[in-house]
Amino acid sequence: STQAAPVAAVPAGTPAAATASKDVTILYGSQSGNGHGIAKKAAKMLEEKGFRVTMSAMSDFKTNQLKKLEQLLVVVSTHGEGEPPDNAISFHEFLHSKRAPRLEGVKYSVLSLGDSSYEQYCQTGKEFDTRLEALGAVRLHDRVDCDVDFEEPTKAWLEGVLTRLTEGLGGAGEAVAPAVGAPSAPAAPAAESAYSRTNPFEAEVLANINLNGRGSNKETRHLELSLEGSGLVYKPGDALGIYPHNDPELVDLLLAETKWDPQAEVSVGKQGDKRPLRDALTEHLEITVLTKALLEKLAPLATNPDLAQLTAAGNEAALKAYVKGRDLLDFVRDYGPLQGSAQDVVSLLRKIPVRLYSIASSQTANPDEVHLTIGAVRYDAFGRARKGVCSTQTAERLEAGDKISVYVQPDNHFKLPEDPNAPIIMVGPGTGIAPFRSFMQEREETGAAGPSWLFFGDQHFTTDFLYQTEWQRWIKDGVLTRMDVAFSRDTEEKVYVQHRMRQHAKEIYEWLEKGAVFYVCGDMKNMAKDVHQTLAEIISAEGGKSLEEAEAYLADMKKSHRYQRDVY
Ligand code: 2AM
Repeated sequence: STQAAPVAAVPAGTPAAATASKDVTILYGSQSGNGHGIAKKAAKMLEEKGFRVTMSAMSDFKTNQLKKLEQLLVVVSTHGEGEPPDNAISFHEFLHSKRAPRLEGVKYSVLSLGDSSYEQYCQTGKEFDTRLEALGAVRLHDRVDCDVDFEEPTKAWLEGVLTRLTEGLGGAGEAVAPAVGAPSAPAAPAAESAYSRTNPFEAEVLANINLNGRGSNKETRHLELSLEGSGLVYKPGDALGIYPHNDPELVDLLLAETKWDPQAEVSVGKQGDKRPLRDALTEHLEITVLTKALLEKLAPLATNPDLAQLTAAGNEAALKAYVKGRDLLDFVRDYGPLQGSAQDVVSLLRKIPVRLYSIASSQTANPDEVHLTIGAVRYDAFGRARKGVCSTQTAERLEAGDKISVYVQPDNHFKLPEDPNAPIIMVGPGTGIAPFRSFMQEREETGAAGPSWLFFGDQHFTTDFLYQTEWQRWIKDGVLTRMDVAFSRDTEEKVYVQHRMRQHAKEIYEWLEKGAVFYVCGDMKNMAKDVHQTLAEIISAEGGKSLEEAEAYLADMKKSHRYQRDVY
């Protein structure tokens, strides 16, 4: 198999030579904030051991410092279809360009975050690892690729890195005397909730409302959860992680197809906890995503001889095409029955990954609550109705009084400007509106005076204007300065947010020149790309610049955190 296992380490080409430095630079790039969290943890751990740590987002790193580095740790995730996350793009580009210096003096190690249900698993981390080596840098410790369940491999990587760094100081295994001089990484805030990704809070559902009107093509849920007693703290721009449950109907179909005993005890997770099979399939195991890696592991259990054709050498493309959009039930129906026990299969399945949603409320305005805006995902594929796990659990099986496991995922890159007077422009069609509701609540509650401008879009004015009355009240009260809406299916020709932007090109450019922060939230594949393109065209036309110069203007905005995206 050419696909990397969930935790893969590539062999270090050359063993790292002894080094005497206590200086370590940690560069991170991540979309969801996991990378930043890990970088902070690494910094703290190394500082405790006496290292001098400089930590920064890749986008904030001055590339002319690169040559001077002695020891470099890279923590980076992969976004979308194998792309670097937003705050890694410029550094990634620089490193792969002709401008990148030789790095013979640098020792490094890469921690790569990803999701094995994507084909380009951990791609960006792999690219950094390969490129740093090609530039002459020496691996201090093997790269580690982490799947969504990243805690354990991360811990192993950190320990490995620490051992190599300590060996470098000539005191293998011994504690290093604390270095003199203040560490350059700012300390994490002191107050921390007892609840986290690894120990989620059971939040009670306070309200669950369909925001779309009768006759809409969409179902967008406004979910209010209680955080009372959790100590969980969030800022506008942060996300909430949810541990969802699978659809019990899908579990029943799978049980019927496999003829497994729903009551049979199986062991799940790293601790091997015993659970009845039905519970394990509903609450613990991912059954909705079939990957190439999973199919290859299931193959020996499948009894249908047709499978041989799919797994035959040289048939990679057919295999990839088959797994795309299919799930475990498809596989059992197409290539079953499976031999072996339920446990044999259970042992091959991933834990249900967490779902992250941009928070739609401000905690300043709602101290004990968190609100989310969740679009129910439903579609047909391969002759069966398919449902988004978390979004349809919310839409169909979550009522006031029910509980759900959550934690706060801080986002240190998508946030309101510190200056309450700074102008902001927000582009958030569909569920992309969520963080901007949080922004407005926060600005209202804190009395921030900065001008604000919202671009919202959805299919129909009458059924899909999410939070309509709230925006109108904010306009009336002057919290929101301007609002332009694009309802794509109310007119003969489609109107999108970027069309509205173009109509107000002059003012948008004026706002940008006055220092406005530009935010985009929502669909990554189409909307965010088109909005970016439109923005570049606006800057070019209104600023008398070439498109290249306009892109440089946007790159500068990104660098100074004035162009922020939360796209998915
Ligand atoms: P559509 O569904 O009519 O194509 C939120 O989903 C809104 O975003 C909808 O009005 C949707 O329009 C619109 N949308 C779809 N593709 C888009 C794109 N490339 N750019 C901006 N908006 C888009």
